[in-house]
Amino acid sequence: MKRGDIPQVVTISRDNMSKIIYDSWGVEWDDDDLLKMLRHNSTYNEVFEIENKIIAYYSIEVRDSILFINSIQVDRGYKGMGYGSEMMKRIEEIALIYNAEIIELWVQITNITARRFYNEKGFRMISRQGNNYLMRKFLPTRNDD
Ligand SMILES: CC(C)(COP(=O)(O)OP(=O)(O)OC[C@H]1O[C@@H](n2cnc3c(N)ncnc32)[C@H](O)[C@@H]1OP(=O)(O)O)[C@@H](O)C(=O)NCCC(=O)NCCS
Repeated sequence: MKRGDIPQVVTISRDNMSKIIYDSWGVEWDDDDLLKMLRHNSTYNEVFEIENKIIAYYSIEVRDSILFINSIQVDRGYKGMGYGSEMMKRIEEIALIYNAEIIELWVQITNITARRFYNEKGFRMISRQGNNYLMRKFLPTRNDD
């Protein structure tokens, strides 16, 4: 992700998440929260583009043997077309490179589409904190071959 990508990435996230965040947490969307996360030196962010337009992105970080997904977003006009699945595949490849055995993420309880998507991708609910679920997926280790 380049510096110049940030405005489009923020727009995609705000568009997707404002209502979900308000419904789940009762707080208004704040661009600065996302900017802090994207600019943090431990995060790796990648964008997907079609004809110079950003249509999806993810933000991840690896802590010890856990790869954590901070954000995964597809632009409104491009949902349900396989881009989320493509990003998840890419994230799993990165997890393998870093020898991470687990992928984790938080999802708002009211975010039914995302919960269904994560379930399909093999994530299972681990715990609940307020209006969020922690979801986890175990990756096959070399010993499983
Ligand atoms: C959740 C999200 C990343 C999924 O990405 P996506 O590109 O829409 O998902 P895909 O097209 O790869 O679909 C994957 C599966 O989910 C289902 N699916 C997901 N969204 C769908 C939609 N809007 N319409 C139809 N099916 C959908 C499909 O059945 C598909 O199954 P298949 O692989 O058997 O075809 C995307 O919907 C999104 O950006 N949502 C808003 C942001 C968000 O909530 N992010 C997560 C925050 S925790």
